[in-house]
Amino acid sequence: MSEPRKKRVLTGVKPTGVPHIGNYLGAIQPALELSKEYDSFLFIADLHALTTRQDPAHLTEQTFCVAATWLAAGLDPSRVVFYKQSDIPEIPTLAWILSCYTPLGLLNRAHSIKAARQEGATDEDINHGLFTYPVLMAADILIFDTDVVPVGKDQKQHLEIAQEAARKLNLAHGEVLRVPEPKIDEAVMTVPGLDGRKMSKSYGNSIELFASDKELWNKIKNVKTDSTVYGQPLNPENEVMFEIYKLLGRPEQVAKLEAQYRSGRTDPNDPASKPFGWGDAKKALNEIVLERFGPARAEYRRLMNDKPYLRKLLAEGAEKARTTAAGVLGRVLDAVGIVR
Ligand code: ADP
Ligand code: TRP
Repeated sequence: MSEPRKKRVLTGVKPTGVPHIGNYLGAIQPALELSKEYDSFLFIADLHALTTRQDPAHLTEQTFCVAATWLAAGLDPSRVVFYKQSDIPEIPTLAWILSCYTPLGLLNRAHSIKAARQEGATDEDINHGLFTYPVLMAADILIFDTDVVPVGKDQKQHLEIAQEAARKLNLAHGEVLRVPEPKIDEAVMTVPGLDGRKMSKSYGNSIELFASDKELWNKIKNVKTDSTVYGQPLNPENEVMFEIYKLLGRPEQVAKLEAQYRSGRTDPNDPASKPFGWGDAKKALNEIVLERFGPARAEYRRLMNDKPYLRKLLAEGAEKARTTAAGVLGRVLDAVGIVR
């Protein structure tokens, strides 16, 4: 198919929702780690976002927000091909071709459609884009000869559909498309939200990475705590603020905070020191978020104030991506007999 090369990893992020610590630890950081050893493609799935109704101004803003988030988190655009899906016209072309090889039954069984139907949506309510979502996703992946796709468990079926679409085309025309493998990391941590459930933008329990200092403190300040009397020991077991702190702090910081909880004192070795209560626990969490993400927060704000730079960067990424995409699409067009 093609010459030996470094393995290629690709993943896409929909520009919906403001990124939170769960996204960072569960998705952004692992993807950036992988980009150190793989040839890496990372994109903003803006066309996919349209499968659910979006406010146009919000979608535009969110697209920049995702771009700024990844860059502020450390994505190096000289190592990672970073682009928006909508800048790669080869993707919808391949999606159309794939759709002509993908059985209807396979798409009918996709979770997204089944879930919508189970919730009572009829064929009049479900838009065709949602139905064909997995085919567009298959094209996102197959257009770059991707080897590995790191995704959450919820995307497993979409990956299977991408594999199946590639196999169907290959069955008809020979080894045209590389069949990708999912990388579903079962060990990836689930970050708890401020109410103890999984941190998620849909639950309103998240610590947003780039909220203002004031918004951040307001969110943490309002965490519900038990009625332990000020100065009495606090139980860190399964306590949500401590759980989040543990994921962010250095071991010695975590050990110190745990001792403060258990002793109810600011200085765990000095019973006469100032009491340590829930207010202090909240301040500790607030501080660790600022400490851990301080530089990224500043960089995020700088980038969001420089949209021309973000546009330029994404355009450069798209140019690189299109070189690869054009090669793969050419192969497919030749294979199916479309004149070019
Ligand atoms: P949300 O649940 O806030 O809507 P998404 O579904 O958009 O988040 O998830 C985007 C990425 O972030 C996915 O790869 C997902 O696995 C990861 N992610 C989301 N929430 C968490 C969490 N609480 N812990 C770990 N990873 C998470
Ligand atoms: N469907 C993915 C999600 O909802 C986003 C996505 C679109 C994607 N295209 C992709 C992920 C290609 C990996 C590869 O999170």
